[in-house]
Amino acid sequence: MKASREDKDILDKLEDFFDSKVQPKVKEIEELLKKEIELGKLKAESLIEYDPDSSFSYLSAFLLDKGVAAIHPSSKFLVARVLKAMDLDEASTVVEFGPAEGVMTRRILHSMPEDGTLLSIELNPHFVKAVRRIRDPRLRVVQGDVQEVEKHMAKLGIGKADVVVSGIPFSFFDLEGRHRLLDKIHSALKPNGRFVAYQVTTHLIPILKEHFKNVSHRLELRNLPPHFVFIAKK
Ligand SMILES: C[S@@+](CC[C@H](N)C(=O)[O-])C[C@H]1O[C@@H](n2cnc3c(N)ncnc32)[C@H](O)[C@@H]1O
Repeated sequence: MKASREDKDILDKLEDFFDSKVQPKVKEIEELLKKEIELGKLKAESLIEYDPDSSFSYLSAFLLDKGVAAIHPSSKFLVARVLKAMDLDEASTVVEFGPAEGVMTRRILHSMPEDGTLLSIELNPHFVKAVRRIRDPRLRVVQGDVQEVEKHMAKLGIGKADVVVSGIPFSFFDLEGRHRLLDKIHSALKPNGRFVAYQVTTHLIPILKEHFKNVSHRLELRNLPPHFVFIAKK
């Protein structure tokens, strides 16, 4: 398939971004880790013990569990873009997939109405403990699989959602699993609800279009790696 002019421009931009921003940052993190180990401040083996108070907690969680899918939380730019896409002013019920240590969770709570409910579903037990440290009566944290979203909502007596937001890579699921999950998300939403997903690739677009009437996307370069943000309206 031939790449369009627009696709080529995006790919060129991504390449420049990787060369100028990503590579130096990775080098910087590598140097920092080496220095901390040399100075005896950090033991290499402690990287594979999850310590919620360590600056490397997220990296440890990733080393222990590939399902974590990222070595650090979303950047403030990606968080801001996702939050804008969620349009939370009047969202009384929100469901979050994969909060990890809660970088999005905190901002969602900040933007939600005072009488709202946020259900965050996370599989990784370390992250569940970390996100349960957020003290907010509107937040319900469940340790479980998003593939059972309807069961988690029913168990907690949570009605249909205004917004479902997901940072989970859909590449974790086969094609049938992706359709099954999108069906569940669609039926978990109110009639005018929206599904917002942030992903590294665009492979979700055609599948989203099969389930939702209106699908749009934005690219956020200021994240490592850059992410697409999809808005799918019911
Ligand atoms: C890429 S991280 C997103 C983290 C965070 N929301 C952020 O913006 O930095 C994906 C998260 O989804 C969780 N996860 C992966 N598969 C899951 C599943 N099937 N059910 C629930 N959580 C899952 C991982 O443990 C991880 O915390």
